[in-house]
Amino acid sequence: MAATITMPRLMAVGGGALAELPGTLQRIGLSRPLVVTDPFLVHSGPLERATAFLDRAGIRWNVFSETVADPTTAVVEAGARRLAEGHYDCLVAIGGGSSIDTAKGMSVLFANGGKMRDYKVPAEIPNPGLPIVAIPTTAGTGSEVTRFTVITDTETDEKMLIAGLACCPLAAIVDFELTLSMPLRLTADTGLDSLTHAIEAYVSRRANPFTDGLAKSAMRLIARNIRTACAEPSNRAAREAMMLGATTAGMAFSNASVCLVHGMSRPIGAFFHVTHGLSNAMLLPEITAFSVPAALERYADCARAMGVADEDEGNQAATARLLDELRRLNHDLEVPTPRAWGIDGARYEELLPVMAQQALASGSPANNPRVPAAAEIIELYRRVYG
Ligand SMILES: [Fe+2]
Repeated sequence: MAATITMPRLMAVGGGALAELPGTLQRIGLSRPLVVTDPFLVHSGPLERATAFLDRAGIRWNVFSETVADPTTAVVEAGARRLAEGHYDCLVAIGGGSSIDTAKGMSVLFANGGKMRDYKVPAEIPNPGLPIVAIPTTAGTGSEVTRFTVITDTETDEKMLIAGLACCPLAAIVDFELTLSMPLRLTADTGLDSLTHAIEAYVSRRANPFTDGLAKSAMRLIARNIRTACAEPSNRAAREAMMLGATTAGMAFSNASVCLVHGMSRPIGAFFHVTHGLSNAMLLPEITAFSVPAALERYADCARAMGVADEDEGNQAATARLLDELRRLNHDLEVPTPRAWGIDGARYEELLPVMAQQALASGSPANNPRVPAAAEIIELYRRVYG
């Protein structure tokens, strides 16, 4: 079956790419941006530099800076109202995945009306949204190139997956220099998120030859640079590799989907407010161990791409090395278990049935090489608790 590939129309990639913002808008005929960011970035270097470029080009802009980590329906609705109050022709999202995901939600609501939950997967989004130019300041979510957004329903605490062309930015500016000041924990968590994207895109039942190359390239870049980026924050080569890895992993999973790790990760984030990359990392080794028997060769390829197995090594040995490496990475980057992170055991146990149900409802587990039933998901949650 032919794969349908969704990507931004225009991208500026590399150190200093932020300067391309006005030119990028002009090239695609946009002139009235609402800038979407978070309160911490308002007086920070990246936002001030981005808006200075706009001022110099004579582009009038306004800012919506009320985004929150793990964007909520309440914030997205407030943002869509702001959008309706002005005469904007696009959104410029600058920040981590939360700012970009918020802009996507705003664009979808502005163009389609209704409530965010009306567009929860598997629902379709009828109208393309307002154009988005995405500028990531972390190397992780890949949201700058994906056709997904994840919005938490304020009423139910559910992290809803929303997907479609309307969620894919029209343009992306991928400038690794914006990540040079990221603190260690953020570097590790976002980097592990992008490694999870690359692995899940490659083993997904919806993987295709187009996404395979992107996923392997992303694994190569991320696995070989994540420790250096954490240990030496100003190492430009490592930061550039991580940024490129995050964006290419985003392109891969946007067109091949994520699998069981992401499916199980979203409920942990929604109920216990564990950051997205960290909840993925808590799950990645055990979920990989569960899934390996169903896709031995694919996981062996991951080990080879990550540089932990030789090209001529057998699949069994290579997948054993992959599991070792994923556990070692969690150890080296100080990823806690849910228990060590502080999640109460009784509350966790009590929520397992609803977490498993939400994981399955997201559709992501159905893309996994080994598709678990609800009872197996509950058992896996118990295994990772620690
Ligand atoms: Fe992710």
